[in-house]
Amino acid sequence: MTTTLPGLLDTDAIRKDFPVLSRVLHGDKPLVYLDNAATSQKPQQVLDALNAYYELHNANVHRGVHVLAEEATALYEGARDKVASFINAPSRDEVIFTKNSSESLNLVANMLTWADDPFRVGPGSEVVITEMEHHSNIVPWQLMCQRTGASLKWFGLTDDGRLDLSNIDEVITENTKVVSVVHTSNILGTVNPLEAIVRRAHDVGALVVVDASQAAPHVPLDVQALEADFVAFTGHKMLAPTGIGVLWGRLGLLEELPPFLGGGEMIETVTMSASTYAPAPHKFEAGTPPIAQAVGLGAAIDYLNALGMDKIAAHEHALTSYAIDALNGVEGLEIIGPKTAEMRGAAISFQFGDLHPHDVGQVLDEQGIAVRVGHHCARPVCLRYGVPATTRASFYLYSTPGEVDALVAGLEHVRRFFG
Ligand code: ALA
Repeated sequence: MTTTLPGLLDTDAIRKDFPVLSRVLHGDKPLVYLDNAATSQKPQQVLDALNAYYELHNANVHRGVHVLAEEATALYEGARDKVASFINAPSRDEVIFTKNSSESLNLVANMLTWADDPFRVGPGSEVVITEMEHHSNIVPWQLMCQRTGASLKWFGLTDDGRLDLSNIDEVITENTKVVSVVHTSNILGTVNPLEAIVRRAHDVGALVVVDASQAAPHVPLDVQALEADFVAFTGHKMLAPTGIGVLWGRLGLLEELPPFLGGGEMIETVTMSASTYAPAPHKFEAGTPPIAQAVGLGAAIDYLNALGMDKIAAHEHALTSYAIDALNGVEGLEIIGPKTAEMRGAAISFQFGDLHPHDVGQVLDEQGIAVRVGHHCARPVCLRYGVPATTRASFYLYSTPGEVDALVAGLEHVRRFFG
């Protein structure tokens, strides 16, 4: 029997666009891909765009006067336009292409590490993050603090997997220079109340960076409504190829802040003694950029827009509610993170009895079910909840209630397997 839920997308039609989803593993086990928070699968439309780019248009960008160079440049810059409109950026020049979210976050941290007044960070300055950050939003700020003498502070977590903002006025103070916070946790699934954080940060004159890696693929993202100063996300979690990320930043800031990487394409003039820089976004895109990957991201955005981000969000919300109810009903299973679907994304981490997540993941894999196990690059979260690791199932626009049922049946098999 096929379970249907209100608000679901037409996954029968959608799944036909994703060649990998028809794979059968271990002889007779249809792939149940529940590792979407790690990376999404790619539709044929994105694969075709990549192929067409290499088959017909491949050239370096911004450098040539020949036809292919002009076509490649138009495709690459066209992808920037698509990203700008996807996130409602006021200007296309605010969209910087990077390699991934980690590079985007490192880029902001480095812009600020080397910045002059009024952005200078030094001894006495404070940088604020949270205990639910991915390592990519922890380590760059630790490096920045080591290099500048600033101090790192963070918001802790409540027992039910939310940010503890009860001491917001003590954590974000007049000394705070930057607050960098995740929109949606990759391990807990928590969606954070960014408004309160942005308001407090801006009240004290701090900049706000939002790691939207687990948000941009799943919900409508409007950088103007968010009112942050920088927003980072990555393409490979939103149907695009690996190797393409985005840093959005306010144009006024991008004009003021120094570049991080130096090289070709980011300059205005170069002499042997000094250089001047191109305007944003090119100031921050040294060297040959990930051209085909950006074109793939543009095709992914076309695909997402055709489905509608609000409809994708509704699909995932319905599926997440269904999955949470189903997993809460599995004896011995404990969700690590919010146990309801409110203010929550589609990644669900759990402990299953006293089984090690690697054992759970391996027996699920034998049944064709792909989940992620480990600390999910968010080790402080595991330390906070006293677990060495978790098993994580994460859904996307092609995921179905049948796959949730398969996970639950798979877990019952794990239970029998380990007696
Ligand atoms: N950050 C990715 C994850 O959570 C890789 O799996």
